[in-house]
Amino acid sequence: MQMTRLFIILLLTVVLLLTACGGSDAPDAPAAPVGDVAAGKALFQQSCASCHGPNAEGMPGLGKDMTTSSFIQGLNDQELLTFIKTGRPTSDPLNTTGVDMPPKGGNPALTDSQLLDIIAFIHSVQKK
Ligand code: HEC
Repeated sequence: MQMTRLFIILLLTVVLLLTACGGSDAPDAPAAPVGDVAAGKALFQQSCASCHGPNAEGMPGLGKDMTTSSFIQGLNDQELLTFIKTGRPTSDPLNTTGVDMPPKGGNPALTDSQLLDIIAFIHSVQKK
């Protein structure tokens, strides 16, 4: 009698623990913010600001304003990462300015994790 009750309690505890762990892991992971805004801002100043301006508001005849970009607002981190690594050359029919957006802003040394920091910074300056 006594042992059976103990066994059932133990079993319930294990089941509860398992469901609690499974629940917290899976759904959050993809949406969690990955980049570091402060680190991204510093990297942005080095690699992107020469064309896009120090606060990502764009420079006439150079990089586009990123603070009001519906293109950026429509992409998730992963899609934006792919875009920045590819760039948008003048030969791309989607190019809007006739000026090259070089892959990684022309700085091939930038790692994915650094680019994700830059992306966190870009998200932080969105005005809408
Ligand atoms: C040599 C200048 C230059 C540098 C450096 C540069 N860009 Fe660009 N970028 C451009 C130009 C020009 C465009 C617009 C291309 C077009 O005509 O569509 C652009 C467009 C973009 C866009 C798309 C904006 C939109 O609304 O369509 C993103 C995102 C972007 N750049 C991110 C970056 C990031 C991040 C960096 C730094 C790692 C960077 N750029 C460095 C010139 C530059």
